Amino acid sequence: MSQPLPVSKPPRHVAIIMDGNGRWATSRGLPRSAGHKAGIDALRRAVRAAADMGIEYLTIYSFSTENWSRPRTEVAFLLDLLKRFIRQDVAELHASGVRIRVIGDRENLDPSILSMLDEAERLTQGNTAFTLVVAFNYGSRQEIARAARRIAEQVEQGNLKSSEVTATILDRLLDTSGMPEPDLLIRTGGEERISNFLLWQCAYAEFVFVPEFWPDFNAEILARAVQTYAARERRFGGLKAQTA
Ligand code: FPP
Repeated sequence: MSQPLPVSKPPRHVAIIMDGNGRWATSRGLPRSAGHKAGIDALRRAVRAAADMGIEYLTIYSFSTENWSRPRTEVAFLLDLLKRFIRQDVAELHASGVRIRVIGDRENLDPSILSMLDEAERLTQGNTAFTLVVAFNYGSRQEIARAARRIAEQVEQGNLKSSEVTATILDRLLDTSGMPEPDLLIRTGGEERISNFLLWQCAYAEFVFVPEFWPDFNAEILARAVQTYAARERRFGGLKAQTA
């Protein structure tokens, strides 16, 4: 297959739903865990390719609030994989100037995971070359509900009037506070849904669904998705750009 042409203006922020690990493994007669393991290599490729392409933020859906309902052994495997990823990759990511940010619910998390995530964020907080946002124990509705609860508390305490509550205020209370909104959301694995991922933040994102399973993800698939994005006209609710 020919290499897609480079895009002159890449999206600033790409979010990815990394789907299809299980199917990738099953189709090879392997256990699902092998698909998740191969998914880590795909993640490494994705980070490298995104940074090379001039993308500034990459947000990955690594574990959703709904993923706890999977069999205990699979959940344990995924948590272990996250720990191993942090242990093995953070030093190198840090050396390459990658900042790591974690979004999701931190309540009731295993303290060993929490401290690793905190440490990865702390270590890399001064980096500016690229930001990898890891969505872990993340659910968008829950994130919005947490922000709404904080607004309610501020109103209760008399620090905010209900008439002053705006989208900007809520936006600042989300886990993604301070980040640009995703321009492009990619989902691998052929399913075409958003699965409680960045519902608020993707209000104007372009969605690109690709059939490849996540463990097969590579620079070429990313470049093709970016080209599809670049060929679309983003109007943000306005009208088509006028030609004079
Ligand atoms: C979806 O595949 C993938 C996940 C639920 C987990 C995503 C995790 C990784 C790619 C590797 C881990 C990354 C980190 C940072 C720890 P699926 O299992 O839903 O696949 P299926 O739809 O084919 O069953």
